Amino acid sequence: MAWQRRQFLGLIPATAISLHVSGETVADVAEVPRTLLASPPVVQHPAADGFTVNVAVSALATGWVQWGRTADQLDQTAIAHRHGLIRASDRALSVRVPLGDSLPNGGTIFYRFVVQPLAYKNAYQLMRGETQATRVYRLSLPDPGAQQVTVAIVNDTHEQPQTLLALHERLRGLAPDVLVWNGDTCNDFDEQDDPLQIVLNPAKDPSRDWAAERPLLFVPGNHDVRGARARELATGLSGWPGQADLPYNFALRLGPIALVGLDTGEDKPDQHPVFAGTAAYEPYRELQATWLKSAVARPEIATAPVRIAICHIPLRGLPGENDGTSLEGYAAFSGMGAKLWLPILRQTEFKAVISGHTHRDRIDDPTPDEPITQVVGGGPQPDRATITVLRAQGQTVDLEVQDLAGRPLHRRQWSGNAS
Ligand SMILES: [Fe+2]
Repeated sequence: MAWQRRQFLGLIPATAISLHVSGETVADVAEVPRTLLASPPVVQHPAADGFTVNVAVSALATGWVQWGRTADQLDQTAIAHRHGLIRASDRALSVRVPLGDSLPNGGTIFYRFVVQPLAYKNAYQLMRGETQATRVYRLSLPDPGAQQVTVAIVNDTHEQPQTLLALHERLRGLAPDVLVWNGDTCNDFDEQDDPLQIVLNPAKDPSRDWAAERPLLFVPGNHDVRGARARELATGLSGWPGQADLPYNFALRLGPIALVGLDTGEDKPDQHPVFAGTAAYEPYRELQATWLKSAVARPEIATAPVRIAICHIPLRGLPGENDGTSLEGYAAFSGMGAKLWLPILRQTEFKAVISGHTHRDRIDDPTPDEPITQVVGGGPQPDRATITVLRAQGQTVDLEVQDLAGRPLHRRQWSGNAS
């Protein structure tokens, strides 16, 4: 990191800083921008034993989460570390907050994300600056045993600012318990793009949050794996803890709904020349089929009144559409995902698959051959964008696909018979 003390001193009063070297305090500090926090917090990976919070930063920093049961008593602290070393990053910080037995069935906590600049002059001369903190957020974690839940799903936002701002507004009104971002956050992550800003600060304003007070479930799209900086996606929207090989698969019980996330990957075969030997989505889809078989057998998934899967590329095509298994064109639906996953979803009586990718909303109702409804969300432009809302109450789930003004475009309802 550049050592530019004079520049730093122009930003923060020197009296506010200190440096600890071999036990002595020296007036010196890491260079730090005034706004080290470069995004709102993004909550992910809700589970009985904890949740994750990520935030983008504009310079090298460490970070931690202070949380508690009331807004004025944040008496617990979680900090990210690995083999003893506290994590630091100049892009984004990710903190897993362990709940232990303190909040086993969902509930509300209050938290703020704190960051502190870090610079190394050498191994024994580390410089720290003043901490900066987000405001205190009220986070509601979903209760797997709740009688009702609301889930909102958005897709194919492709960095469209007008659409993203409108979606943030709509979500404030809808106040869902969980938000799902069903792929294609970007057009690509090229050298000049900042993937962390695209995925953690989509409204381009750290004061505008959409997943600071509810968890975000991320499902990757084919554009999210493209470009020289695509591998930075996982720094912003990190994979689920303990799932190195299948980072974005999830099977969650959210009240009456079991929600399963699948990753359809790219829209062309792995051997397509445009990938130049960088694609391995075919074995990845096979691995997900094995995972799916065990996920749907888990008691909380098998006994849910209504099971719903989410994946970016549709699993059902319209007549004559490209299934993405040839070198011609690109997939309108994932032929390989359909072949591998649909039999498992049918066998376990999934009611619906929710997708995006085609940039045009539609519903494919069940047929004699295909008992599962397919819901396809809209596109990136404001006049094509949609928000899909699932409202579950007891044994019944109502689905409504809405436009950005909140007008209903499609409605369906499912009732479960399991309990
Ligand atoms: Fe797509």
